[in-house]
Amino acid sequence: TFVVTENCIKCKYTDCVEVCPVDAFHEGPNFLVINPDECIDCTLCEPECPINAIYPEDDVPAGQEVFIALNAELAKSWPVITERKDPLPDAKAWEGKPGKLKLLER
Ligand code: SF4
Ligand code: F3S
Repeated sequence: TFVVTENCIKCKYTDCVEVCPVDAFHEGPNFLVINPDECIDCTLCEPECPINAIYPEDDVPAGQEVFIALNAELAKSWPVITERKDPLPDAKAWEGKPGKLKLLER
């Protein structure tokens, strides 16, 4: 499966959602996740993210392994998103900032 990682938090560009053939993306207040039970590893979403927040499960950046379980957990309660929308208002300022996990809203 593919996994959305920390850099998405407080940015949420949503370019990724429109290419998914199985509607695997779920939306929270300031982050998206991929449902591992739906993802078919097509790879299409990975290059769509302008800030490289999406990785294959076995290739998530060091220290971000927690996001594998977080995607699975949050996908159970968050609604599916299939259409692109505007990024969060301060997305540009939050790109690439470390330590965003503590800012994740559920
Ligand atoms: Fe959807 Fe393909 Fe991305 Fe999996 S890899 S979330 S199936 S677009
Ligand atoms: Fe997040 Fe990138 Fe998609 S910022 S919403 S994973 S395009």
